[in-house]
Amino acid sequence: MAIRPSEEELLARLNWFVKLRWLFLLGLAGVLFFAVKVFGLEMEVVPIAVIAGIVMLYNLGFYIFHREVREKKGREAAFRGLRVESNLQVGFDLAALIFLVHFTGGIENPFIFFFIFHIIMGSILLFGRDIWFQAVGACSVLLLLLALSYFKVIPHYHIRGFASDELWTNTPYLWAGAVSFFATIFMAVFLTDSIARSLRKREKELLLTKTQLEKKSHELSLANQELIRKQSLLIQSEKLASLGKLSAGVAHELNNPLTGILNFSNFIKDYCQNQWQVQHDIEVVIRETERCKKIIKGLLDFARQTQPEEKREDLVAVLKKTVSLVESHKDFKNIEIIKDFSENLPMIMFDRDQIQQVFMNMIVNAQEAMPVGGKLYLRAGMSADKKFVVISFTDTGAGISEENLDKIFDPFFTTKEMGTGLGLSVSLGIIENHGGRLEVRSAAGKGSTFTVKLPVEKEGEYL
Ligand SMILES: Nc1ncnc2c1ncn2[C@@H]1O[C@H](COP(=O)(O)OP(=O)(O)OP(=O)(O)O)[C@@H](O)[C@H]1O
Ligand SMILES: [Mg+2]
Repeated sequence: MAIRPSEEELLARLNWFVKLRWLFLLGLAGVLFFAVKVFGLEMEVVPIAVIAGIVMLYNLGFYIFHREVREKKGREAAFRGLRVESNLQVGFDLAALIFLVHFTGGIENPFIFFFIFHIIMGSILLFGRDIWFQAVGACSVLLLLLALSYFKVIPHYHIRGFASDELWTNTPYLWAGAVSFFATIFMAVFLTDSIARSLRKREKELLLTKTQLEKKSHELSLANQELIRKQSLLIQSEKLASLGKLSAGVAHELNNPLTGILNFSNFIKDYCQNQWQVQHDIEVVIRETERCKKIIKGLLDFARQTQPEEKREDLVAVLKKTVSLVESHKDFKNIEIIKDFSENLPMIMFDRDQIQQVFMNMIVNAQEAMPVGGKLYLRAGMSADKKFVVISFTDTGAGISEENLDKIFDPFFTTKEMGTGLGLSVSLGIIENHGGRLEVRSAAGKGSTFTVKLPVEKEGEYL
C-alpha cells in the first residue's frame, strides 16, 4: 500500500517544485542565449519561447493555488486538491519537456536525458501508482514523438551546426536511443520510489513515536499533579492529626476556667452597675472570654474528628435544612440564594451533624465574603464519572488572593478580625473522613466556589 505523505509535506514539496521551475526557466533562457549567440546554432527560438511562456503561466497558477490551499488546510478536500495538483504539475512538465525536445532536434538532442530529472522529481512528488503511470506516460509520449517524426507525420526540427541531420531517421540509433531511454527512466523510477517509500515509512514511524511520547508525557504530568495533590493532603492530614491531639487536651483544660471567668465577670458587671469605667472594662473581659470560648469550641469540634456515624441519607435534604436555618437571618438580607439541585441524586452514607456543620461553615464564609450583599449559588449534582455527589457553594464576594489560597485550610488561618480560622480545616477533616474531597476555586475580587464531593460508594476504610 502506498504511504501517503502528510498534507504539510506535500504542500512543501509542491512549493519547492514551483521554485525549481522558476530556476528552470532562467536556465532555459541562459542555454538559449549561449546556443544562439555564442555558439551560433540555428534553432526555432519562437516555439521555445512560447513553451517557456506557458510554463511560466501554469507555474504562476500553482503558486496562487497554494496560497488558497494553505487557508483551507486540514481538510480532506484540500489534500485531494493537492494530489490532483501533483499529477497536473508532473503532467504539464512532461508536455512542456516533450515539446521542447521536439523543437530542439528530438532524438538528436542530448538534453533528452533531462527526462530523468523530470521522472525523479515526479517520484518524489507523487506516490502510489501515480509514479508508474507518469513513467509509462513519459515513455509513450517520447515513443510517439520519435515515431511521428520518423514516419514524417510531423516535421523534424534540426539544430544546424550541432548534430548531424540523419540521426532521427537512423533506425538502429533510434532503437538504441529509445531502449536506453526507457531502461534509464524505469530504473530511476524504481530507485527513487523505493527510497521515497522507505523515507515516508520512517517519517510515519517517527510521527507515531512523537505522538506516543506526547501522550506519555501528558500522562506523566497528570500523575505528577495527582502526586502533588496527595502530598498536600497528607501534609494537611498530618497537621490536623497532631493538632487534634494537642487541642483535645488543652481545650478541655481551658473550658472550665473560662466558664468560671465568664460567670464571675457577669457577677462583677451586675455588682458595679453604677461604675461606668468598670462596666466598660468588664464588658471587654466578657467579650474576649466569649471569643476564647468560641475558639475552644472550634478546637473541641476539631478534636472530635473521629469516625463519622454514618447513615444512608439525602444530602440535598441536609443542605436545604441548613439553608433554612440561616436564610431569614439579618446578615443574609442582601444575599440572593439561588438553588440548582439535580433530581434523583442517590442517597449516600454520611454523618448528618458533621456534614451540616460543613455546609454551615461554607454558607457563613460565603456570607462573610459578601458583607454588602451578592449572590450565593448552591448546586447539587453528580460528578462526570458518577462516583461522587457534588455540592458546590459559589459566592460573588471578595474572593481569595493566590497567596492565601494555599493557607485557607490551615488551622487558625484567618483574615477576619473575629474569626478562629478553624472553619475550613474542620470541614476538610470531616469531608476527608468521609472519603470525600473539598476543593476551592477563587479569583480575588470576583468570588469563590467551594466544592464538596462525597463518594456514592466507599472504597475500603476511611482515610
Ligand atoms: N467564601 C469565601 N470567600 C472569601 N474568602 C474565604 C471564603 N471562605 C473562606 N475564606 C478565607 O479563608 C479563611 C479561613 O476560613 P475559615 O472558615 O477556616 O476561618 P474563618 O472564617 O476566618 O473563621 P471562622 O470560620 O472561625 O469564623 C477566611 O478567613 C477567609 O480569608
Ligand atoms: Mg469560617
